[in-house]
Amino acid sequence: MQIKINKKEYEANENETVLDVCRREGVRIPTLCSFGKFKREAVCRLCLVEVNKSGRLVTSCTTKVAGGMEVETENENIQKARAINLELLWSDHAGKCVKCKKNRKCELQTLAEEYKIENFHFVPRRGEMTNAEENELLRDNWSRVVVDEKNPVVERDSQYCVECRRCINICPIKSYGFNHRAGDSVVGTPYNQPLDCIFCGACVKYCPTGALIDQGDINKIITDLDDGKLLSVAIVDAAVLESVGMELNGVKTVENLAGNLRSLGFEKVFDLSWGFQKYVEAVAEEIHPHHTGKKNPAKQRKFISSFCPSAELYIKKYFPELVKNIIDVKRPEEIMAEAVKKEYAKKEKINPKNIRVMLVSACTARKKLKDESIDHILTVRELGRIAREKKIEGVRFAGSVPDKFMNGANVKYAELHKYGKLSQLLTEKIKGDLVIGAANGVLEIENALNAELKKEKLHDFLEVMVCPGGCEKGGGQSMKI
Ligand code: FES
Repeated sequence: MQIKINKKEYEANENETVLDVCRREGVRIPTLCSFGKFKREAVCRLCLVEVNKSGRLVTSCTTKVAGGMEVETENENIQKARAINLELLWSDHAGKCVKCKKNRKCELQTLAEEYKIENFHFVPRRGEMTNAEENELLRDNWSRVVVDEKNPVVERDSQYCVECRRCINICPIKSYGFNHRAGDSVVGTPYNQPLDCIFCGACVKYCPTGALIDQGDINKIITDLDDGKLLSVAIVDAAVLESVGMELNGVKTVENLAGNLRSLGFEKVFDLSWGFQKYVEAVAEEIHPHHTGKKNPAKQRKFISSFCPSAELYIKKYFPELVKNIIDVKRPEEIMAEAVKKEYAKKEKINPKNIRVMLVSACTARKKLKDESIDHILTVRELGRIAREKKIEGVRFAGSVPDKFMNGANVKYAELHKYGKLSQLLTEKIKGDLVIGAANGVLEIENALNAELKKEKLHDFLEVMVCPGGCEKGGGQSMKI
């Protein structure tokens, strides 16, 4: 069917919403709650448009297209209505940005700037309330705020929440929902208990404000980086290249990233390929002897990859009977960090106590299962915060290359973070009649593990990755705002 948007004809499909067509055709409409293919909840009311010159504004995210429809996406009424709705959301946030860890990376803040929200019609002004009334209001507001700082991965502070419900929609194990009822209902965890999940970090990645952020002490990292007596070593998972340019402007390649890491204070920059190679070799060793029965014949059948920490946490939580089947091989970053502190330290004659190994990762769950050989784990977002803190903008030391670790690694291992790569490399490496499979996303993993339990499909090796598509889509990545 044909519809008109801002007087221009567009082709639209049945079941599409006005927002779908606008996004497809590059007509910008501000949104907060509608994201990608998430369920449309129409709570932020920022996507208002006018249809058929009716003078009535409707939410474009939920309004289905109809043949001959005429849509206007910008006029004075629309601007005013969006600004009022934005101001309502912003009224809760005014003055909080300075302390917020998402400052300058917040979608609400960006929209508030765009719509020049500065008149706080919904915030009482000096003299409009008595001190007692103000105290009562503050007490009431704070009684609803939930702060969860104990979680090793996700820090939650509900005072920044705009109730957009993205976390409810994205969480693969449904850790978020609503608390209280009717007008008092708020997004949260069941009974506001500390978040208990598989720490994939998707909720942090998609949260538009500072309500959900990375847990981690970047000041401690900066102190270590600036300490001249310490050797700061970055281990970089190339998966971060997917989004690192959003945090470190212009950084697109491993070389760019190595240069910027050096300017942040890292003395050595190793990419994770060496750890990837050792991991594949160790896994091949683990499954092959078992399959052929030549070695360890009585050993417990191990077939589930230990690569993805979120998957391990998922299995512990929902398939405890299969925990014993997870392969006993340390993850690539753990193998490599241990080698930095042992073999590398010995070779370079450095006291391991004076080495700080920091993993730059697209994965948040690694923080939950952090091995003691790794001192700090930084997500892409945290790397960006450190760069902003140190005022390092744009590409630095453009000619840099990562340092070679030990004897280096074969390039074919460089992309093990991609879903399916591990099973592909094992299939190539192990000659024999093995059943090697892969599952990504919680649903596929659940189906594959159930098939195992029912003995419908028994694997010699099963690669499991919680983030669909692998680590490039990891919860530690940055998001375009
Ligand atoms: S995007 Fe339509 S109401 Fe939020």
